[in-house]
Amino acid sequence: MTQRDTNQPAPENLVERLDETVAAIRRRVGDRAPRVGLVLGSGLGPFADQLDDRIAIDYGEIPHFPVSKIVGHAGKLVFGQAGGVDCVAMQGRVHYYEGHDLATVTFPTRTLVRLGADILIITNAAGGISNQLEVGKLMLIRDHLNLVGANPLRGFNDERLGPRFPDMTEAYASELRDVARSAAEPLAIDLAEGVYVGLAGPTYETPAEIEMLRRLGGDAVGMSTVPEVIVANHMKARVLGISCITNMAAGTEPELSHDDVTETAKLVKSTFIALLTGILQRLAK
Ligand code: HPA
Repeated sequence: MTQRDTNQPAPENLVERLDETVAAIRRRVGDRAPRVGLVLGSGLGPFADQLDDRIAIDYGEIPHFPVSKIVGHAGKLVFGQAGGVDCVAMQGRVHYYEGHDLATVTFPTRTLVRLGADILIITNAAGGISNQLEVGKLMLIRDHLNLVGANPLRGFNDERLGPRFPDMTEAYASELRDVARSAAEPLAIDLAEGVYVGLAGPTYETPAEIEMLRRLGGDAVGMSTVPEVIVANHMKARVLGISCITNMAAGTEPELSHDDVTETAKLVKSTFIALLTGILQRLAK
């Protein structure tokens, strides 16, 4: 067994590792100063392909970056501009269910903030639980339930990154949701809003689990985002979370497959790109 225990606590040399990573990226991109970092979920990566003035770096070329092998998660860090804003986008992410510990899963998110992004737009593909949702809808995340069964901040806390006990009352900044709604309106995009439940996966949920999550107040469910939002808050970045509802969660559909998830995300692609561009235009002001 060479793989590390997936519940490995946060390591003590995180700042040193981040500094090495940022230095290596800076050697590739010079003095680019991204204000906004984006994490693009399953099937939502194409947003990064249409950035202006792009520089793309494979995750495999970035020290300490974990590499995903999941289909639909390309694995590139892309610098560029959209809507007049300097951005850095993660095209693909790694997940806890792949066997990485949460410090590793969230290392790229920390890198975005360390590169200067103080706003993070974190997106995902999710199953709809609320009957207000339907396949193809985009949902602004108002809050989350961490049911991953672990927390990326467990273990050593380096005060240079953030406090031991971070506040999570505005984990998803309400003023960024206002910006998203004002971008959606002229595009006639009907945005939902709700609570995202983060689970470890990799199984999709049973019908009984979905019923439980509904009773707990969950509107959508997925296997990412929550650990990333925790470290973003730890580092005092403001977060906008957007779920693309790729399927209705188990119990409301006959059967679920990863292909359905990536197919729906592809159909939503142009709406999603238009919305993100509109949001960035507003953030540029
Ligand atoms: N459950 C969990 N994760 C998901 C789903 C789902 O239904 N759809 C996309 N990611």
